Amino acid sequence: MISPSLDPVDWEDFRALAHQLVDTGIDHTRDIRTRPAWQPMPEDVRVRFRAPLPRTPLPLTEVVAALERDLLPYPMGNIHPRFHAWYMGGSNPTGALADFLAAIVGSNLGGGDHAAADIDRQVVDWCRQMTGMPDGTSGTLVSGGSMANLVALTVARNVKAGVDVRVHGIQAAPPLRFYASAQVHGCHVKAVEVLGLGRTCLRLIPTEPDCRMDIALLQKAIAEDRAAGLRPACVIATAGTVNSGAVDDLPALADLCRAEDLWFHIDGCIGALIALGPRHRGLVEGVNLGDSLALDPHKLLQAPFELGCCLVRDRDLHRATFALNQEYLQGTTRGLAAAEWLYDYGLQTSRGFRALKLWMSMMEQGADRMGQIIDRTIDLAADLRARLSATEGFEVMHGCGLNIVCFRHVGPDEATRKARNIETMLVLQDEGTAVLSDTTIGGQHWLRAAYANHRTTPEDVAALIGSLERLH
Ligand SMILES: Cc1ncc(COP(=O)(O)O)c(C=O)c1O
Repeated sequence: MISPSLDPVDWEDFRALAHQLVDTGIDHTRDIRTRPAWQPMPEDVRVRFRAPLPRTPLPLTEVVAALERDLLPYPMGNIHPRFHAWYMGGSNPTGALADFLAAIVGSNLGGGDHAAADIDRQVVDWCRQMTGMPDGTSGTLVSGGSMANLVALTVARNVKAGVDVRVHGIQAAPPLRFYASAQVHGCHVKAVEVLGLGRTCLRLIPTEPDCRMDIALLQKAIAEDRAAGLRPACVIATAGTVNSGAVDDLPALADLCRAEDLWFHIDGCIGALIALGPRHRGLVEGVNLGDSLALDPHKLLQAPFELGCCLVRDRDLHRATFALNQEYLQGTTRGLAAAEWLYDYGLQTSRGFRALKLWMSMMEQGADRMGQIIDRTIDLAADLRARLSATEGFEVMHGCGLNIVCFRHVGPDEATRKARNIETMLVLQDEGTAVLSDTTIGGQHWLRAAYANHRTTPEDVAALIGSLERLH
């Protein structure tokens, strides 16, 4: 029998299968350490993922069995405690339950007067509280850091253009200049491209040897640009660069932006939430001084993907950038449309209930415990740095900070060293013992371990060192 809707014909069959799937998910997470940190997919699995659009129904039991066979054994690996690549959180079971519940509730966070919308507002305000931004700051939950930065830079562009960009377009504005360190994340390049500013609008300022923006060179660049008739508009500071965890001098940059009348945006996707750590929050001093701040709860707060947040100090400027009066979305004095539309604070109209995964885990754990877990990621990186510095045959990059460590096997020259270090990274991946990534800073290649996973322990750091020594 086929149901007239997408609901199951037999709810009890569905219940049994759903419970079984929850059990599978729980076992998968509980037993994470027994599996490789990553493993390649066999060809027969890949082939099945290339099958054409299914036209006829398949019993859900078979759909689930196919995923148990083909999906669960081949994840990216970032929930594994020995995954140290790029910069990702480890997700968490409560957040997974929340994603399920959010889909069950099914509410659209474009706005309206309903509980999910209030939870969304509350989570934005918790992000504000966790990072120390002032009361009255507005914000929006987005898919991740790239979108959070895009939202912020859109506000910055519109505020500083000197013309109504929403009406007249960027072609009516004087040539704007945005500034960031040469270590800025690539999402800012994409942001200025899609904002119609073009890459040349983003002036990359060289860094000091510790990978922080050279503020004297920034000042010089601003003066040069003004003299050339360009309009300096925005400084993008980074609290935790992706390559090495460097934190720009946020208080000094805040002062400079005030003096120069520039928008001050802080990309805190890596570092902003370190403000929650009781022992290490001093590392990101000044993270609350921006006109806008991007942060990424799907990193250090371990929310399942996707969850980013953009905070804007001046609510009116934020709203003025995105608010739209549409005939079919008029407010009313009571009823479902009586609340402010949340879509007035970003690019999306329909939006998922992504707030719930953070709401549930923050309620369950409390902010203090989350802060301790964040502090622990910094301790793990310090531990790796100290141990590798003391291990013959390895060197650690000077100036890597927060919970990121750049290191390498030493070698006679850059090309030999690079080939050897990449091989080590790939052997560890092939074995499934650990996942590292790599990067190049100032022309020098480094292996890179980022500690952003709540499951990683000092024993995992020791195991990584053991593996590196074995491969040396
Ligand atoms: C400093 C920084 N900014 C922005 C981003 C982009 O964040 P997302 O991957 O959540 O879009 C990242 C990602 O790692 C990052 O490290």
